Amino acid sequence: MSGTPVPRPRVAVSRAGLPGAAVRRLASRYDVVSWEGTAPPTSAELGALVRGCSGLLVLGSDRVDTALLDAAGPGLRVVALASMGYDGVDVGAAAARGVVVTHTPDVLADTTADVAMALILMARRRLGASVDALRRGEWGAFRMDAFLGLDVQGATLGLIGYGQIAKAVARRAAGFRMRVQHHHPRRQEDDELSRWVTFEELLRTSDVVSVHTPLTPETVGLIGAPELALMKPTATLVNTGRGGIVDEQALLTALRDGKLHSAGLDVMVDEPRTDPADPLFAEPRLVVLPHVGSATQATRAAMVELAARNIEAVLEGEAAPTPLPGTGGRPVVAAAREGA
Ligand code: DGY
Repeated sequence: MSGTPVPRPRVAVSRAGLPGAAVRRLASRYDVVSWEGTAPPTSAELGALVRGCSGLLVLGSDRVDTALLDAAGPGLRVVALASMGYDGVDVGAAAARGVVVTHTPDVLADTTADVAMALILMARRRLGASVDALRRGEWGAFRMDAFLGLDVQGATLGLIGYGQIAKAVARRAAGFRMRVQHHHPRRQEDDELSRWVTFEELLRTSDVVSVHTPLTPETVGLIGAPELALMKPTATLVNTGRGGIVDEQALLTALRDGKLHSAGLDVMVDEPRTDPADPLFAEPRLVVLPHVGSATQATRAAMVELAARNIEAVLEGEAAPTPLPGTGGRPVVAAAREGA
C-alpha cells in the first residue's frame, strides 16, 4: 500500500560550486535549490530562490533582512551562514519569526589568524610596498636604507576583542616574541597568552593593534580619528574583522599625515572594491587584501560542512551545533555605510 509521498523539505543555497561534499549530502536528503548565476544573487533573486524553503545556506556577504525572510514565507526554520560574521543578518527579525540563525565559529580561527599575522608582517616590514615596487621594475642596487620597516619581534600587540581568532593570533605572536595585551569589554581577565587592558591603554601602548571584534551597532566606527590619534605614530593597525569597524577616511588621513606607521586591511566597508583608482589601493603604507582571511580549500569546505550540519540538525528537530549568540538584531551594514 503506498500513500501520498511526503514532500521533502526544500533548502536554498545561495551559491553554486561550494567546496566540499556537504551540499551534495544536503541534496540527498532535501530538495536543494542552488543559485546558479556567476554573480551573487541580488536580494530579489535570493528572495525568489528561498520562497517556500525550510532551510537557507548563505555566505557572510549575503543580506538576510526582513524582506528576504518575508519572501521565504512561514516555513523557513533555519538560516545557516557559512561564515563566522553575521552582520548581514537581521537576527532580531529572524528570531521574531522563530527562524534559527547559525554561523561557523571554530573552523576558521587559525586560518584567519594566519592572515592577520601576514598583514602585520606585510605592513610593518613594508613587504607589500616592496613587492609593488618590484612589479613596477623599481628594484635598484642594494641599499641599506631601502624599504626599512619596523621589527615585529618584541613589539607589543594589542588585540581588540578576545575571541577565537584573537587568541589564535596571540598564540602566533608568542612565536614572534611579541608582548600581547587585549581589550574585551566584558571578559576582563588575563590568561597565559595575554593581559587585559583598557581600550585606551591598548591604543596608547600597542605597537600593533589588531581588530577581532564583530561588527555590531556598538563597534561601527570603533577606530576613528580620535582613536587613531591615541595610537603611537610608529604603530600598525590591522583589521581582519569587518570593514565598518575602522573609519577608512580617518585611517587614510592618519597614514598620509605620518600619524600612523602602517596598516593592513582584509576587510572594507563596501565589498567588493573594484575601482583600481580606489584611494585605499594607492596608499603605500596600507596593505589591502580582498577578504581572504578564511580562504583555504580545507577551511572553506569546513565552513560549508558546519553550515550544512546546522541545517540538518534543525530540520531533523535537533539543536543546531553553532547557533548565533543572542545579538540584538539590527542589521549593521547599513549603519556602517552611513558611518553611524
Ligand atoms: C567570516 O567568516 O566572517 C569571513 O569574513 C567570511 O565571511
